[in-house]
Amino acid sequence: MSSKLNVVILAAGKGTRMYSQTPKVLHELAGRSLVEHVIATAAKLKSQNTTLVIGHQAEKIQKKLSYLPLNFVFQAEQKGTAHAVEQAFPMLDEKAKVLVLYGDVPLIKTSTLKKLLDKTDEQSMAVLTCDVSCPEGLGRIIRDIDGQIRSIVEEKDADAEQRKITEINTGIMAFPVEKLKQWLPRIQNSNAQKEYYLTDIVELCIKDGCKVNDVSCDNELEASGVNNMLQLATLERAHQIDQAHQLMIQGVKLFDPSRFDCRGELEADTEVQIDINVIIEGKVKLGKGVCIGPNCIIKNCSIEKETRIEANSVIEDASIGSKCSIGPFARIRPGTLVDDEAKIGNFVETKKAHIGKGSKVNHLSYVGDTQMGSGVNIGAGTITCNYDGVNKFQTIIGDNVFIGSNSALIAPVKIANGVTVGAGSIVTKNAETGQLVIARSKQTNIDGWKRPQKNNRK
Ligand code: UD1
Ligand code: CA
Repeated sequence: MSSKLNVVILAAGKGTRMYSQTPKVLHELAGRSLVEHVIATAAKLKSQNTTLVIGHQAEKIQKKLSYLPLNFVFQAEQKGTAHAVEQAFPMLDEKAKVLVLYGDVPLIKTSTLKKLLDKTDEQSMAVLTCDVSCPEGLGRIIRDIDGQIRSIVEEKDADAEQRKITEINTGIMAFPVEKLKQWLPRIQNSNAQKEYYLTDIVELCIKDGCKVNDVSCDNELEASGVNNMLQLATLERAHQIDQAHQLMIQGVKLFDPSRFDCRGELEADTEVQIDINVIIEGKVKLGKGVCIGPNCIIKNCSIEKETRIEANSVIEDASIGSKCSIGPFARIRPGTLVDDEAKIGNFVETKKAHIGKGSKVNHLSYVGDTQMGSGVNIGAGTITCNYDGVNKFQTIIGDNVFIGSNSALIAPVKIANGVTVGAGSIVTKNAETGQLVIARSKQTNIDGWKRPQKNNRK
C-alpha cells in the first residue's frame, strides 16, 4: 500500500459541558488550543493533507487556525461521528490511509499513532483502545473468544454485562480510504441516540472479510478527551508534570516539579535552577547556570549564562545577557535588551530599552524608549518621560553617566558620556560630555519661619 496519509480531525461537536462561549477545541492546554496540539502531533506524521470537520462555532475555529495549511469541511448538523467523517470524503485520496482523530484529545502521541498506522493496510483497519478505570459514557470493545475485536457498543446501547467491560474505544481509528468510502455510507442510525456511529464500521469491516486490528494505549490520559473543565485541568496537570520530568531528566533543577508550568518551549542549558511557581511561556532559552527565583513569569526570552532572575519578576520579549541580576519585583517589558553584568532592581519597569554592559537601574524606575551605554548608574525613582500623550520619544544616555535619584528625563533628550545629573532634576535639554546637570529650583532657607496656626474661634 502507498505510504500516503490523510488525516481527519473531528471538531464539530458542541462541547456543551464546558459551559463556555469559547468552542471546546479552542480551550487551551499549556498555552495552546486543544486542537492545535492535535494538529501539531498529526503534522509529525507528514500527512498529505489534514482536514478539520467543523460545525459548532465553525467561524471562530476557522479564524483561529487560518494560519495553518488545513482543509476545513462543514458539518452543519452533528449527526454522529460517521456522518462527520463522511463530510471529509472529498478530501480523501483513494490510495491513501486515513487517520481519524478527535480535536479534543490533546495529549495523543505521534508514536502511538504510528503504531496504529502500521496496523492498517488495504485489507485492515485499526482501532486505538484503552483499558480505563472508569469506562462510563464510552464505547466498549467487544472481543470474541479468540480476542479478536467483533464490535464496539456505545454505553447507551450496551447491556449490563457489556457495561462491565473496561476496554474502551478511544475514538481514534485508521482505515484504507478505498474501503472506508465503501463501508461508511452503509452505516445506519438505528441506535439509542439516532446517530450515525463511526464505531459501527467495525462490523461492516468484518462482514467484508477485512481485519480489525487494535493498538492498546497504555496511558489512559494520553487518549482522554476533554468534555469539561475538570478533565481539562486533569490533562493540563498530567502534561505539566510530564514536561517537568523531562526537564529534570535533562538536568534542570526544579525546586518542585508540581509547581512549575511550561506553556511553550523551554530550552535550558546545564546547571539551570528554577524555584517554585515559575511560569514559562512561548519560547524561552536559558543559558548555563541561570537561576530563576520563585513566582517569575518568563515569556519569549533568552537569558544568558549565570544570570539571576530574582523573585516575582515578569519578563517578556526580552533578551538578557550573562551575569546580570534582575529583580526582585522587576517588570521587563517587550523590546528590552540587557547587556552582560547589568543590574535591574526592585520595582523597575523597562520597555524598548537597551541597558548597556554593567549598567545599574536598581530601584523604582521607569526606563522606556531608551538607549543606555555601559557603566551607567540610574538613581532611585528616575523616570524617562517618553510620552507626550500622543507620541513616544527616545532618551539617549551615554557611557558612565550618573543620574541622581528622582530625576525626570524628558524625551527626546540626549545625555552624553560621563554626565552627572543632580538628584531631583527635570532634564529637558541635552547634556554634553562630562557636564554636571542640575535642573531644579534653588533651595531657599528662611529663618524663624512661623507655621500657620489653627483658628480656634467659633
Ligand atoms: C465517541 C465514540 C465512543 C468513544 C468516545 C471516545 C462513536 C459513536 N462513539 O463517543 O465509542 O468511546 O467517542 O471519546 O463514535 N463529532 C463531530 N460530529 C458529530 C459528532 C461528534 O464532529 O456529529 C466530534 C466531536 O466534536 C468530538 C468527537 O467527534 O471531537 C467525539 O464526539 P463525542 O460526542 O464526544 O463522542 P461520543 O460520540 O460520545
Ligand atoms: Ca467525547
